[in-house]
Amino acid sequence: MSVLQLRNISKSFGAIRALTDVNLTLEPGEVLGLMGDNGAGKSTLVKIMAGNFPPTTGDIMLEDGPVVFHQPVEARRKGIEIVYQDLALCNNLSAAANVFLGREIKRRFGPFNILDFRAMYEQAGQLFGELKSETRPHDLVRRMSGGQRQAVAISRTRLSNPKVVLLDEPTAAISVRQVAEVLDLIRRLRDQGICVVLISHRMPDVFSVCDRVFVLRRGRKVAEKPIADSSPEEVTGLITGAIHAA
Ligand SMILES: Nc1ncnc2c1ncn2[C@@H]1O[C@H](COP(=O)(O)OP(=O)(O)O)[C@@H](O)[C@H]1O
Ligand SMILES: [Mg+2]
Repeated sequence: MSVLQLRNISKSFGAIRALTDVNLTLEPGEVLGLMGDNGAGKSTLVKIMAGNFPPTTGDIMLEDGPVVFHQPVEARRKGIEIVYQDLALCNNLSAAANVFLGREIKRRFGPFNILDFRAMYEQAGQLFGELKSETRPHDLVRRMSGGQRQAVAISRTRLSNPKVVLLDEPTAAISVRQVAEVLDLIRRLRDQGICVVLISHRMPDVFSVCDRVFVLRRGRKVAEKPIADSSPEEVTGLITGAIHAA
């Protein structure tokens, strides 16, 4: 039984056709590498899974049947979390505050609901610990490296106990050493039984952490196969069009 299935998904933005007839199946506990050139439709595809906008046509199937998402909170309730390419963190806040941004823990204090900072800092510390990240809850995001920011954004997805985590180019703008840290975070998510979709341009990342690779070219699927049955050369060919399909 698959965790999530996209069936014949197409998406147009006005006259621009971003996706055409895409089918995708996510199996339990797998890391899927989503690859394609700039403009191939990768971000559009994960945004559809995350409920940012509905497809123009096509269906999203979860384990318990078809779903229609009108906003991200609906996808989140069904166990689908996303980390956007720009991360959407607040630089002037602490790591813990960013984890709980918009999902703050509150407690009763007489007639008032007040923010429970102690609980949030404690839980954030626990989440960073589980991901074996060195990030500390009180650290300011402004002072963090790109890799640590990813750790904060990824920890945030764990709040809802998700089934699927979608990562849009998490290793695009960080140093080599931090890339290794982020790939470790992805392995830890997988070890917790979470399905990960990793969008990346970096062939070594995809070949070191993914179980399967999915390639989009100009909004169409040109390959979906086990990583062991492919090679960086083949994937490069599929991305550029030198290889038609595989
Ligand atoms: N909100 C939008 N409005 C109009 N066009 C969009 C929008 N989002 C994406 N597109 C277009 O859809 C195509 C696919 O974009 P995108 O999914 O961002 O590609 P990728 O993430 O693979 O680089 C591009 O031609 C892009 O310009
Ligand atoms: Mg993109």
